[in-house]
Amino acid sequence: MGALSYITQLIIFLAVGLSVVNGCPPSDRAALLAFKAALREPYLGIFNSWTGYDCCHNWYGVSCDPETHQVADINLRGESEDPIFERAHRTGYMTGYISPAICKLKRLSSLTLADWKGINGEIPRCMSSLPFLRIIDLIGNKLSGEIPRDIGRLHRLTVLNIADNNITGTIPGSIANLSSLMHLDLRNNRISGPIPRGIGRLRMLSRALLSRNQLSGTIPSSVSRIYRLADLDLSMNQLSGPIPASLGKMAVLATLNLDFNKLSGIIPASLLTSGISNLNLSKNSLEGKIPDVFGPRSYFTVLDLAYNNLRGPIPRSISQASYVGHLDLSHNHLCGRIPAGSPFDHLEASSFAYNDCLCGKPLRAC
Ligand SMILES: *[C@@H]1O[C@H](CO)[C@@H](O)[C@H](O)[C@H]1NC(C)=O
Ligand SMILES: *[C@@H]1O[C@H](CO)[C@@H](O)[C@H](O)[C@H]1NC(C)=O
Ligand SMILES: *[C@@H]1O[C@H](CO)[C@@H](O)[C@H](O)[C@H]1NC(C)=O
Repeated sequence: MGALSYITQLIIFLAVGLSVVNGCPPSDRAALLAFKAALREPYLGIFNSWTGYDCCHNWYGVSCDPETHQVADINLRGESEDPIFERAHRTGYMTGYISPAICKLKRLSSLTLADWKGINGEIPRCMSSLPFLRIIDLIGNKLSGEIPRDIGRLHRLTVLNIADNNITGTIPGSIANLSSLMHLDLRNNRISGPIPRGIGRLRMLSRALLSRNQLSGTIPSSVSRIYRLADLDLSMNQLSGPIPASLGKMAVLATLNLDFNKLSGIIPASLLTSGISNLNLSKNSLEGKIPDVFGPRSYFTVLDLAYNNLRGPIPRSISQASYVGHLDLSHNHLCGRIPAGSPFDHLEASSFAYNDCLCGKPLRAC
């Protein structure tokens, strides 16, 4: 009995001792508690587990570096399949703000605070001094203020996702220094001003999603130097000037959405012979003829050129395309016979409506 209780005590002693050795540093714990104190999550109780000394164990959404035992990741998603959400039969909702205390977590590698709908305030400026940050994912909140000017200091950053917030100001030029950035998502904010010329230096970037903002100026042709870029979405902004023909020479660009801007000039022929399969140029001020350059390599799941000032005929070569899934040429000034051929067999009249004088199937006979 005595021996047993001695062993029990020894085990407790060791357990406490280990948790002090392996647990998070008191300063990290204090920073997390300050972070928690600035937020209010009334429905799920996700912060209920943030108690006790060892913030590296069983604190919901927190994980630590296995070697340094410092906090490395905060991963809190308001839409998740975690049992906490299933039990509550609802998605998350959180108000409050992101405490600058987070910048005391010197080893922080990822901050995901996504889809909580109600978190407001600014992105703490000091976050650009966290040298280990790889992921910033703050999508789906009510954050306001500007992107920190010196964000370019985060040379390990691979993901910057602040879509669906209320961010204003311009895109900082320093963003061009984010040499590890792979995924940039600024969609659906109120960001204005030009796209920084230096964006072409982001050699790792594969997705650049900037739609639904108030960006103005021209599309920097340096974008076409981003070798890995597969998805470029600049739609629903105020961009003007011509479409750089070099966009059609990009190695892996598959989706190009430039719709709902103020782009002018002609449609570069290169775009129609490139690997782009999802092309939306609708709702601009593009003019001239549709280039007659389609061929067996042309493969479009979407080709939307509606609501421009395009003139002339629909090029006959388009019937050579290997596939055209969704075609929209409506609301232009096209004229002449609609080509026949397999890409056209399934198209409806609405694809061709509101032009000057198109005729033939599926419109009236010529
Ligand atoms: C966005 O911020 C502006 C003030 O800058 C505010 O008037 C507006 O209500 C905010 N919108 C949302 C959806 O929070
Ligand atoms: C990018 O980094 C370089 C070198 O660190 C620095 O000199 C330059 O000012 C930075 N550019 C911007 C726009 O912050
Ligand atoms: C192309 O963009 C327009 C304007 O933003 C949009 O209404 C349309 O649905 C888009 N087309 C496709 C096929 O997604």
